[in-house]
Parts: sequence; C-alpha cells; structure tokens
Amino acid sequence: MNDTEPGYSPGLKGVVAGQTSLASIDGDRGELRYRGYPIGELVERGSYASVAELLWTGEWAPDATLACAAPPPEVIEVLRRLPPSANAMDALRTAASAYGAVSGTSWPPTVEQARAITAFAPSALAAFSRLRDGQEPIDPDPSLGLAAGFLYQLSGELPDDASARALDAYFIVGAEHGFNASTFTARVIISTRSDIASAVAGAIGALKGPRHGGAPSEVVDQIHQIGSVDRAEEWIRGALARGERLMGFGHRVYRAYDPRAAALRSVAESLSSVAEWLGKAVAVEEIALRLLAEWKPDYPIKTNVEYYAAAVLQGVGLAPSLFPATFALARHAGWTAHCLEEADADMLIRPDVRYVGPAERHLPD
Ligand code: ACO
Repeated sequence: MNDTEPGYSPGLKGVVAGQTSLASIDGDRGELRYRGYPIGELVERGSYASVAELLWTGEWAPDATLACAAPPPEVIEVLRRLPPSANAMDALRTAASAYGAVSGTSWPPTVEQARAITAFAPSALAAFSRLRDGQEPIDPDPSLGLAAGFLYQLSGELPDDASARALDAYFIVGAEHGFNASTFTARVIISTRSDIASAVAGAIGALKGPRHGGAPSEVVDQIHQIGSVDRAEEWIRGALARGERLMGFGHRVYRAYDPRAAALRSVAESLSSVAEWLGKAVAVEEIALRLLAEWKPDYPIKTNVEYYAAAVLQGVGLAPSLFPATFALARHAGWTAHCLEEADADMLIRPDVRYVGPAERHLPD
C-alpha cells in the first residue's frame, strides 16, 4: 500500500470532503468563526440560542430564546430501564434514538426539527442523571435558557448567574467545528436521506471516543494523577516515553493554540469554585506545552478545547461522568445545522476504499 498515492489519505487527513458556510477554521492562526463572526465576539455578546439560530438560519437574532423541552414519556421510560451504571453518552445516544422513533422525524430535516431535538437533549440527559441517582426527573422551566435549564433539571435548583453564563459560553464554543468526526458522521447519515434523529444518534456515537469528545473527563483524571505541579514534569515525561497521549492537547486542524481553549480559560476564570484547580491546570499546561514541543519539534501540539472545558464543567458543578455528554448537548446546534446543509446538497457521501486483501484465489477442491 502506498500512503502517498494521489487520492488516498489515511484518516482523510487534509482531504476536502464537502463544503459548508457554517464554521471557518484557520488552524495555523488559531481562528474560528461561525458564519464569519469570530468565536470570541459570539461568546462575549451572544447566547447559545442566538448562535444556534445563526447556524440554523444564517440570521443573527440576538434576542432569540431556546428553552429545554420535556422529553416524550416513552423516552423517559426507556431511560428508566437503563442500568444506573450506563455511560451517559450511551444514555444520550439511546435517548436520541428513542426520540426519533417516538417523534417519527423523517427526511428532509427542518429548522423546527433542529430546534426540537436540540431543546430535547438537555432534558433527556438531566433525566438520566437523576434516574441513575434514584431521583425523579424534573420538568423543564420554560423561562430558562438551554444551559441554565439543563443545570436546573439536573439539581432542581436555579443556577447562579455566573454558572449559567459560563455553561452558556461553553455551549457556544462547543456548538460547531467544521467536518470533525461526529459532524461528518451526521452528514453521512443525512446524505442517505435518513432522518435528523438518526444523524444525531450516530454523531453522539462518534463523539464518545476519547480522541474526539471523551477527553475532558480524562483531563481531570490526568491532573489528579499528576497530583502537584512539582511532579508534573516527571509525570508528563514518563507518559510521553510510554507513548501515551496527553489529554487536552493536540488537534487534527489546529497547529496554533485552539481559540476555544482561550475563550473557555477566561470563562473558567470567572468561576470561583474552580480557582484552585484552574491554577494547577494553568501551571501544568505550561510544562506540558514545553515538553510536547521538545517531543515533536516538527508537529506543533497545543492546548485544545477540552483542557479548559474540564475547568468550566467542573466549575458549574457537573460530575466528570457527564462531561462528554454535555459537550454533545452543545454540539447539537452544529450537527443539526450540518444536517440542514447536507440535505440542501442532497448528494450521497460514499467514498472509495483501497482494497489491501488477498488477490483473487479459489476455495480448495
Ligand atoms: N500527546 C502526545 N502525543 C501526541 C498528542 C498528545 N496529546 N497528540 C498527538 N500526538 C502525537 C502522536 O502520538 C503522533 O506521534 P507519532 O507520529 O510518533 O505516532 C503524532 O503526534 C501525530 O498524531 P496523530 O494522531 O496522527 O495527529 P492528529 O493531529 O490527527 O491528532 C488528536 C489529533 C487525535 C486529537 C490527538 O492530538 C490526541 O489524541 N489528543 C489527545 C486526546 C484529546 O485531547 N482529544 C480531544 C481533541 S479536541 C476535540 O475533539 C473536540
């Protein structure tokens, strides 16, 4: 097999597999824009609802609102039957699938379907979290935005303003990011003229892996294992020597610092509950970046979004077991916006594959 042959790129690295008007990413300069607007401006002046509308419709609607929606009772029944030990991503994927079966979403996807499944998902995840703790789900409060409403349905208490704003900012930052693995999965599914709930369920499955959305809880483990900052250098050198990957570092697209990590770091600084952890994380990051630069001098590996996502998610009081699924909630706006775009393109995604198995042969007589 010749990996350098034209038309073949392992992992589709560098392959342009479609076109989008949703997010533009400059990996060398560390820039991310949604429909032209820099991510920093959207975090400062937007809300998740306005950003989601921007992605779905192309219009900037600063006063847009989006509250959590109550899951259909059948979905709650399905969640009730999952073992309390179930992975939260498995529960959310199951909920998306059950939602599709109950609501009967069909091709083509619509903005209304996109809004509905995005509003449904936080309630479903909160319901699962409560059920596994032996508590009953809480009805959504229609006066709260999606992030605040999710926190409310988790705990039954109204979140303070700082937590609600921090999680809303996290949702904005996580909303969309081009042809990442989960979004590409969603687009492949829609390209077959399947429905939006199937696309979202498939995307959640793709996001579950630690090389994509599973990293922030591993960042927490990593900082925990490192223990104190004075042990960080030895720990990181050991991990790299064993061929392990540092969680929260590296990205397929960014060779510069991930702008989402920068935005979330300032959001995390507004959360007093996580100040001590954040101080340690910042010190460990500095050491890790120095050692990664020594380790791979020709392949810049910088901090990615997951590193500071870990700080924000802890700061708003979420359990690490909910981190990847909370990322999935944020990504619903992007996934569903890509579904709309893919349906407009209406072209089956079906690449070729290089066959590397045995040449023609015959069964023994
Ligand atoms: N720590 C140590 N080494 C790394 C890291 C890392 N975090 N990231 C990449 N490398 C090394 C690899 O070991 C590899 O070395 P090798 O050539 O000697 O085998 C080299 O860099 C290239 O690795 P690839 O996987 O080919 O590079 P890619 O840029 O595609 O990797 C990825 C991107 C998968 C995210 C990787 O950086 C990684 O595994 N990071 C850790 C997990 C993580 O933080 N995931 C969250 C990503 S952000 C998101 O999905 C929202």
